[in-house]
Amino acid sequence: MRGKAGVLNCVLGMSKPFDIELERLTGPVAYSEVQPVPDGQRGTFFLETFGCQMNDHDSEKVAGLLLSRGYQQVETPEAASMILYNTCSIREKAAQKVFSRLGEFREKQGEGKVIGVLGCVAQQEGEDIFKRAPWVSLVCGSASYSKLPEMLARLEAGNSRVTGLDTDTDETFETEVTRRDNPWRAYLTIIEGCDKACSYCVVPFTRGPERSRGSDLVLREVRQLAELGYSEVQLLGQTVNSYADPTARKMRFSELLLAVADVVGIRRVRFTTSHPSDFTHDIVEAIEREPKVCDHVHLPVQSGSTRVLRAMQRTYSREEYLEKIAMIRAAKRPIGITTDVIVGFPGETEAEFEETLSLLEEVQYDSMFSFKYSPRPNTPSLSMSDSISEEEKGQRLAVLQDKQREIQAAKHARLLGDCFEVLVSGKSRRENQWTGYTTSHRMINFTSQARELLGTYVQVRVTGATSNGLVGEHAV
Ligand code: 5AD
Ligand code: SF4
Repeated sequence: MRGKAGVLNCVLGMSKPFDIELERLTGPVAYSEVQPVPDGQRGTFFLETFGCQMNDHDSEKVAGLLLSRGYQQVETPEAASMILYNTCSIREKAAQKVFSRLGEFREKQGEGKVIGVLGCVAQQEGEDIFKRAPWVSLVCGSASYSKLPEMLARLEAGNSRVTGLDTDTDETFETEVTRRDNPWRAYLTIIEGCDKACSYCVVPFTRGPERSRGSDLVLREVRQLAELGYSEVQLLGQTVNSYADPTARKMRFSELLLAVADVVGIRRVRFTTSHPSDFTHDIVEAIEREPKVCDHVHLPVQSGSTRVLRAMQRTYSREEYLEKIAMIRAAKRPIGITTDVIVGFPGETEAEFEETLSLLEEVQYDSMFSFKYSPRPNTPSLSMSDSISEEEKGQRLAVLQDKQREIQAAKHARLLGDCFEVLVSGKSRRENQWTGYTTSHRMINFTSQARELLGTYVQVRVTGATSNGLVGEHAV
C-alpha cells in the first residue's frame, strides 16, 4: 500500500494499483435506500471492461458503487460471487468478445454466480442476451446505471432476470464513491451519450441522448480529486466539446476547462473526444491562455473525402475540417492533434481513400487510431451495401498506417534534443527505466538514476525517436 492522503491503495496483483477513496467511502452514501455493510459481506465481484475510456470510467464508478454496498473486488471470475462484463459494441469484434466470455459458463450454467452484462452490448442486444446465455441475470445499458442500486437490490433478493435498458433518460451516472484505477490521472465524465447521428455508429443507440453534468458537480468532484492528490484530470465525453451546462451558470466548455485548471492542486487538464463541428475558437484560446489546459486535441476526421463524410453524416466537409485544423495550428502555443479514421466505408472508392491519405499528409497528425469499417446493428449505414471486401479494407488500413508511421517518424525526429515536462506514470522492470506522458500526450520512455519518480513531474530530454515513440533521459 502506498501512502497518499485519504487514499487506500489495494494492489490486487493487477498491473495497476487501484484506489479506494477512503473518506468518501466512509461519508454519506448517495442513495438513501442503500445501507453500507462491512467489506465483502455481500459477496465478491469480478469486473472486466472492454472498449473506450468512457467504459473504463463507468467501470470505476460501478466498482465504487459495489464497494460502498459491501462487496469486495477480486481478480478472477472463479473467486467472485458476481461476475460483470462492461462491454463495447463499437465494432463487431469487440461485441463478439463478450459472447465468448459468456460461453465459458455454458457447461456449468454460471455455477450459482450472478452474471451481468453491462454497457453497449447489453443495450444493443437487450433481453436476447437471456436467450443466448440463460445463466445471465443482469443486463444493463449505461444510460440506466443511475438505477443500478435498485437493480442490485433485486439481484440480492434472488431475482434472476433484471434489466435496465431505457435510453430516454436525462440522468447522468452519479456515484458517491469512484474506485479509480489510475493513481495519477483521474477520468471524469462531463457529458454522457451522443446527439450526433454518424451513420456507422452505435453509440447514439447504446448510450442514449446527450446529458451534461452540472458544472457545480464537476468542479466539486475536481476539488475532491485534487484533495486526494490527483494533479491530472481528463474530462470525458463521446463529444466532450458539445458540453452544455444544465445549471443556471451555463458555463461554456472552454470556461469549464479554465475553471478546472483553476482548482488548487490541478496541474493538467485533458479532454477527449472533440467533435470537429463543435470545436470553436474559445477552446483554442483556453489552451493558449492557460498552460494547465493540455496542448492536445483529439479530433476524429473519419475520412478525407467530403462525399464519404456526407454519407457518414459527419456534419462537416473536408474543407471545413481543415479550417478547424488551421485554427488550431494558428494557436500561439503549438497544439498536438490526433485523430480517428475509418477505411472501407460502404462505397468508398480508391480515389476517395486517397483523399484520406492526402489529408494525413496535409494535417500531419501526431498520432492516429484507424479502423476497418464494421457494419453495426441499427445504424443507417447498415442498409448501404458493405461493398468493400475485408481484404481490400485490410490493404487500405495497412497503407494508411504506413503513411502515418512515416509522418510520425519524421515528426519525432524533429523533437530530438527537446525537453518536455513528463508526468511519470510507469516504472519498467529494467533498472532506471521510466515512462510518462508529455502535456501533448506523447509517451516517453526515459532513463533516470532517481529512486522514486512515480506520480511526479520531471523534465525529460529526447535522445532517440522512432515512428512508435520517443526515448529520453531525465534532465536534472
Ligand atoms: N466501424 C469502424 N469504426 C468505427 N468507429 C465507430 N464506429 C465504427 C464502425 N462501425 C470508430 C470511429 C470512432 C472510434 C471511436 O471508433 O473512428 O471515432
Ligand atoms: Fe458515434 Fe459520431 Fe457520436 Fe462519435 S459523434 S459517438 S462517432 S455518433
